[in-house]
Amino acid sequence: MIRLEKVYKSFGTNEVLKGIDLEINSGDSMVIFGASGSGKSVMLKLIMGLLKPDEGDIYIDGKNINELKRSELDELRTRFGMLFQGAALFDSMTVYENVTLGRSEHGDMSKQDRIECARRNLEMVGLAGTEYKYPAELSGGMKKRVGLARALCMEPEIILYDEPTTGLDPVSADKINDLIIELRDKLNITSVAVTHDIYSAFRIGRRFAMLYEGNIRFDGTKEEMESSDDQVLKDFLSHH
Ligand SMILES: Nc1ncnc2c1ncn2[C@@H]1O[C@H](COP(=O)(O)OP(=O)(O)O)[C@@H](O)[C@H]1O
Ligand SMILES: [Mg+2]
Repeated sequence: MIRLEKVYKSFGTNEVLKGIDLEINSGDSMVIFGASGSGKSVMLKLIMGLLKPDEGDIYIDGKNINELKRSELDELRTRFGMLFQGAALFDSMTVYENVTLGRSEHGDMSKQDRIECARRNLEMVGLAGTEYKYPAELSGGMKKRVGLARALCMEPEIILYDEPTTGLDPVSADKINDLIIELRDKLNITSVAVTHDIYSAFRIGRRFAMLYEGNIRFDGTKEEMESSDDQVLKDFLSHH
């Protein structure tokens, strides 16, 4: 469903990605982990088409996203839900407005349907009745869940999670992990999460890839990861 081929991305002299090859299949629950600054967010932005690779190609359902027209890219993006690091809510908008933002922008849903969409998805993330609150009235964990409700409101086929549990206390973090697992199992949405929280990675993922010095250092199952002899991987696992 998603394929990266020899993807390179630099910012000035900072070579962040140095020939990434990665394939994510439909229904996968993939976790990409790596140290802070290793290029995880950059990778998600490349998959979303928010950044362009310097070299290499990214395919979604066999289509090279670099070759898509603006309108085709917009169309493709409607199939993605993204939970941004820090949730990225607008403080001046109510929870309801934040959750339905994408649908308002696309203008493809009546107000009545948007209200229903917000109600249903806020209930899904355990925040029923918060429609008319403002982000400032919510805790960090609740904001992340509003961000998740917003992603769900797009009825995505693919959800990308950027550090879904970072900055949360352990109880809130586990609530988010539980929700991600529930979405994976109930809705069968393909998901790609990036995190440096290895506990969260193990809870939500079925397949794991380690980003290290611009390359995919490891790609496989939990069992393969645990039995790997790679010292770099072992060090990461024992320190995170
Ligand atoms: N828009 C940008 N302009 C310049 N440098 C960037 C930009 N986005 C990311 N970087 C750099 O790329 C590297 C990887 O960043 P990022 O993907 O955010 O790491 P992380 O793995 O923590 O998510 C960092 O050195 C960061 O400073
Ligand atoms: Mg990041």
